[in-house]
Amino acid sequence: MDDLVGTSPAMQQLFKDLGRVAASHATVLIQGESGTGKELIARVIHSYSSASRPFIAINCSAIVDTLLESELFGHEKGSFTGAVATKVGKFELADDGSLFLDEIGELSQNLQAKLLRVLQEREFERVGGVKRIPVRARILAATNRDLASEVSAGRFREDLYQRLKVVTLSLPPLRERRDDIPLLVEHLLVKINQRLHKNLRRVPRETLEKLMAREWPGNVRELENLLTRAAVLSQGDLLLEEHLVQNGEPAKAKAAAAPVVSDRVPTLDELEKAHIERVFTMTKGHKGRACQILGISRPTLERKLRKYRLAPAGED
Ligand SMILES: Nc1ncnc2c1ncn2[C@@H]1O[C@H](COP(=O)(O)OP(=O)(O)OP(=O)(O)O)[C@@H](O)[C@H]1O
Ligand SMILES: [Mg+2]
Repeated sequence: MDDLVGTSPAMQQLFKDLGRVAASHATVLIQGESGTGKELIARVIHSYSSASRPFIAINCSAIVDTLLESELFGHEKGSFTGAVATKVGKFELADDGSLFLDEIGELSQNLQAKLLRVLQEREFERVGGVKRIPVRARILAATNRDLASEVSAGRFREDLYQRLKVVTLSLPPLRERRDDIPLLVEHLLVKINQRLHKNLRRVPRETLEKLMAREWPGNVRELENLLTRAAVLSQGDLLLEEHLVQNGEPAKAKAAAAPVVSDRVPTLDELEKAHIERVFTMTKGHKGRACQILGISRPTLERKLRKYRLAPAGED
């Protein structure tokens, strides 16, 4: 657990829960806002329970349904056009290790039904195959949605939710555990120093206090990004406040403003373009999350990006 820091009561409780679930083989559902450390927790659980076995991660929101199905379960040669060779899916690759289903809240109804069956029967077939293959992997799932309300809204199957939430770990947002920030800064700086071959050691007290006062919508990931950027800019071993001023703050205000198209009424296209830009600012260029907020599919988003010649920078 060296990689995981936090002294706040919420994190201490989480560490206790982690200790208890790690040794078991129970399915774990990890919930928390973006950047709160869900994947890190999944890896910690894995390293406690089956460190020498495979850890296989798959992002359920990153690819289209049909591809995702064959990524998960594999396919037999010739089972569909383009299936030129037999493919082993993630369930098989995970073997007796851990399978991490990231962004599980994005799973389509179709795949929710298929996954449910697999979890119930602990067996599956490759796409186009007949052989029953046993599931031996431990299932870890994560989402930044509130799955209970997704269930109420009819977007997520209740029965699948029940299967997944055998154990639920909830990661609190960073703004609800600001006391963790000094320790996180220290921890992240060590990591960043190694990565960038820097030697940053100190953050002035007042700077730290300002960091603690921020809202951190992107949570620990946002803090890490900010420190990385500052580390690149700074010389010597002191992280100065000027390096930590994020262009994000003023940019956010600008992007949030309604599109001003002189005093004529904007067209629908203009509004749509401005709205997509605004959402991208909110998600820091994260396409999966932008799709969620906009309520559109990934291909639709891609099409609109091309249409409006928008090329968001940032992670995917
Ligand atoms: N408690 C923590 N201690 C140390 N590092 C942390 C902690 N929480 C998160 N991090 C670091 O913050 C970064 C983001 O964490 P991670 O990728 O696990 O978040 P996530 O919840 O999966 O985010 P997303 O929803 O964006 O996928 C990682 O580099 C991770 O190592
Ligand atoms: Mg993640």
